[in-house]
Formats: sequence, structure tokens, C-alpha cells
Amino acid sequence: MRPLLLGIESSCDETAAAIVRGGRDILSSVVHSQAAMHALYGGVIPELAGRSHLQKILPVIDEALDQAGVRPADIDAVAVTTKPGLIGSLLVGVSAAKGWAWVHGKPLVPVHHIEAHIWAATMEHEEGASAELWPCIALVVSGGHSSIYRCDSPTAFVELARTRDDAAGEAFDKVAHLLGLPYPGGPSVSRLAEEGNPRAYDFPRYRAKDGGLGFSFSGLKTAVLYKVRGESQGGPLPPPEAIPDRADLAASFEQAVCDVLVEQTLVAARREGLRTVLIAGGVACNRRLREELRRKAERVGVRVLMPSPAYCTDNAVMVAGHGAVLLAEGRTAGLGLDAL
Ligand code: KG4
Ligand code: ZN
Repeated sequence: MRPLLLGIESSCDETAAAIVRGGRDILSSVVHSQAAMHALYGGVIPELAGRSHLQKILPVIDEALDQAGVRPADIDAVAVTTKPGLIGSLLVGVSAAKGWAWVHGKPLVPVHHIEAHIWAATMEHEEGASAELWPCIALVVSGGHSSIYRCDSPTAFVELARTRDDAAGEAFDKVAHLLGLPYPGGPSVSRLAEEGNPRAYDFPRYRAKDGGLGFSFSGLKTAVLYKVRGESQGGPLPPPEAIPDRADLAASFEQAVCDVLVEQTLVAARREGLRTVLIAGGVACNRRLREELRRKAERVGVRVLMPSPAYCTDNAVMVAGHGAVLLAEGRTAGLGLDAL
């Protein structure tokens, strides 16, 4: 059976719904981004996020059904992100999913946001359908997470490494702020970095003292801060036009992040004896990261699977897709389902 799933995602600042058949065939994907609203404040305001989800969730679900040309009766199950995320945001999606499932008499499938991001990396590739893909390594880099997992199957993951402080996306967002660039920081830093020299500044690359796996981005962020401030270390940040070599700073910062992400991921693959790497999460949109990982992985005979950029950032395709895998394992939930 290739079940038809409605997926719902509202864990942070995207309200999304999608229709996917058999975990892989994308019939529709609707994403309402709140980025413009949060940009006014330089970051996500949880209260505003929850309210916006509430306004958008039902129209977004209806649009996903319309675009796919399916009726509620055609749907086999409703998958929804239940964790992790902002609680006020998650609750909107979970409540909508429960209501929809109850009204239409469909089973509910709770989905873990990070596991869904990982599944997204397999969806658009023929090899992604093969059972031989597993076990593999996954690098998840988003606004809230920077971790490396050993994935023994699409539903069995062991975390091998995580960040000690900021997530990679968070570091991009904070450095964007230092450079006077708009939120979300990843795309704006990355755009400016295209014009800069990635070797202009030798920013620190974190390595754990015990030789273990792990990330840390706070030292890197502080190093950028010192360069931005120059001689005057106190007081407010200088205006963008007063920051010399802004593009070089952006490019050198981006290079430092990419270097540690790529190196640690390939070390994890080598230590685990695995030859496939998946990358996912918003930062996986980053062009330099995609190119460098591909290039360096190829050199050591490691295959890399990644989602197209639209399915790296938060979306519901990954939720509907992974939901089908969970449904096949009978992992449904009742109306007592809660957000975490
Ligand atoms: O996966 P995602 O949409 O939401 C979370 O689950 O956090 O990731 C959002 C993060 C933000 O921090 C954003 O700045 C970052 O992904 N991001 C990027 C790029 N596009 C988005 N970071 C670096 N380069 C990009 N092109
Ligand atoms: Zn995410």
C-alpha cells in the first residue's frame, strides 16, 4: 500500500501543509513563512508565531489539498510535527491535526521534526528508496540544531555529536545581526559571502580537546564580533557602512562553519565505517556547504544525499513523507496526543 498522507508542520515560524503518497511522491507543498514579520524584531517572537499559525493553519491545509487535487476522504492518515519546537507554535499544528483527523475519521501520526528533516534528504533521490541506504550518517543543521546522527533505519537514530552552544543556523543569524544584515541570517550572510574572500580572515575552527565529535560556534561568533568592532570594543555595534571588508567577514565566517561541519561529518562516517551521508535542515541550503561536502566526500568515496533547498528549510513534505514510514510501523496516536 502507498498511503496518501496529509502532513502538517508548525514547529517554528513556517505554517506548512503537504500531501505526499507513499512517503516519497510529492503531490503538493504549501509553506506560509512568517520571516517578514519576525524580521522587524531580528528573530522569532514566539507569541507572534503562535498567533500567525492560528490564522494560517486552516487555509494552508485547504490549499495543500486543492493543489494536490485530493479530497479529505482520499487521505489515509494525518502526520503532524509534535516535537521539538516552540510550544505555542507546535500546539496550533497538533490541535489542527487532531481536529482534522477526528472530523474526517483518519489516524494521526506524530512526527519528530528532526527525524522528518533527515527523511527529506532521501525523498528526491532514487537511492533514497533503497533499503541499502541504511545505516548511514546524517548531519542536521538548522536554527535550533547542529547534530550528527548514526541512522540505522529511517526510524532508529543515535546522536553521535551535537553543538555545545549555538546551532549553526543560530550562528548565521547572530553574525548577520553583527554585520547589519536582515533576518533570517543564513541567506543574507550567504549572499554577501559570494562577493567576499573566504580566506581573508582565519577564524577559529572548533575541535573537541578529547578528539571526540562535536561543534561549538560561540568562539567563532565572538571572533567575528571583535573584527566588526575593530578598535572600539565597547558601545553599540558600528553601522554596516562603517564595517570594513563586510563581504570578506561574511565569506570567512561561512567558510569556517562549512569547514567544521564537513570535517566532522566525514570523520563520523569514517569512524562508523559508513559510506552514505545525508544532510538536512535550513543550513543545508547553504551553497558553499553543499559544494564542499560533495567535493570532499567524493574524494573519500562517500555518497551524499541532500534535499533541494525548498525541502531543507521547514516544510510539511518531510512530515507527510516520514509519517508514511511511521504509519507502516503502526506508530499512530489517539486524540490525547500532545506537543512537546
Ligand atoms: O530548518 P529551519 O528552517 O528551521 C529550524 O528547524 O530551525 O532552519 C532555519 C535556519 C535559520 O537559522 C537560517 O538562517 C538558516 O536555517 N539558513 C541558512 C541558509 N538558509 C537558511 N543558513 C546558511 N545558509 C543558507 N543559505
Ligand atoms: Zn527545522
